[in-house]
Amino acid sequence: MTSSTKTLRNPRASHDFKGRSCSIASVGSYVPARVLTNADLEKMVNTSDEWIITRTGIRERRIAAPNEFTSDMAAQAARRAMEKGNIPAEQIDLIIVATITPDMVFPATACLVQQKIGASRAAAFDLEAACSGFIYALEIGQQFIMSRTYDTVLVIGAEKLSTIVDWTDRNTCVLFGDGAGAAILQSRPNTHGLLTACMGADGAKAELLYMPGGGSLHPATAETVNGRLHFLRMEGRETFKSAVNAMYTAAKECLRRCCLDISQIKCVIPHQANQRIIEAVGERLGAQPDQVFVNLHKYGNTSAASVAIALDEAVSSGRIQRGDLILLTVFGGGLTWGSAVIEW
Ligand code: ACO
Repeated sequence: MTSSTKTLRNPRASHDFKGRSCSIASVGSYVPARVLTNADLEKMVNTSDEWIITRTGIRERRIAAPNEFTSDMAAQAARRAMEKGNIPAEQIDLIIVATITPDMVFPATACLVQQKIGASRAAAFDLEAACSGFIYALEIGQQFIMSRTYDTVLVIGAEKLSTIVDWTDRNTCVLFGDGAGAAILQSRPNTHGLLTACMGADGAKAELLYMPGGGSLHPATAETVNGRLHFLRMEGRETFKSAVNAMYTAAKECLRRCCLDISQIKCVIPHQANQRIIEAVGERLGAQPDQVFVNLHKYGNTSAASVAIALDEAVSSGRIQRGDLILLTVFGGGLTWGSAVIEW
């Protein structure tokens, strides 16, 4: 038989494909050492500790060192996840980095991470879904595990937002911080793992939250730099309303698909953007305040890293134990949103 007459084999259609689940084997996170407090910001723009705390819940955020880049923070978070899971770099088949602040436009930050952690066998690519990036990456990574294409997938959310924040704009500069979180996906026997995930987007509202400069629309020129086009812009009030609706609706849909009541969820981990958004989503879901994980006061909004860092802290602090059900729900620029239910 010549190669042109071979019958195509679809591996997903094989009997073996049925029933293989995808779990999070281990998690890790990293935040830079430098702390920027609300008092520090009072010296930079016309704001106050009281305004920032009451409107956002943020008390301080971390800022990466000048010689510390998104790939460095991502690699640190990955190393910690590998150490906790006792998973050597050679075992990693694929690296997905969710970020809106890559080291460079190209190559992908995931390739730089591959080199830094020594995962020389791994394929690597970046994914851009702003603050929703980690859930998008989890869902994509899960597909590779379930289809048996790969056995070990490293998913990272990492951001150096301090490089795209306009430090003269009080409307946005108080909100964001730097950091990274990582999860290693594998199939574990007798565990459901990632039960379901839903993702959504609305490009009609792209300009609620965006950075106009640096792409093919407005390549960098002296004019784009002078026009401050290389900084993040946000319509706070409209973003707020969209965030509450989208995070609630996505989470509710995931619960419905799994026939779960919110009372069965051990820990809700929402995107850490604003305390008032977190409370509104929690209340609409009917969650008790102690079911909802919050670390926003320490780190601000770290975009794609946000739920990844929170997940790692929830696990290391003992808030989540193996077998617990957890609910993630996120929202970000795009607009994008997503939610996932995981049996830890
Ligand atoms: N200090 C003091 N005053 C301020 C500050 C500040 N840092 N920032 C804004 N103000 C002022 C405004 O100028 C405005 O004054 P005015 O009434 O005289 O014009 C007033 O405070 C109220 O401004 P609002 O925008 O109405 O404040 P709001 O209560 O909506 O809070 C905030 C603003 C915190 C940005 C809120 O809208 C928010 O959290 N939005 C959602 C952000 C979000 O979820 N982002 C998610 C995704 S991020 C990503 O994808 C990268």
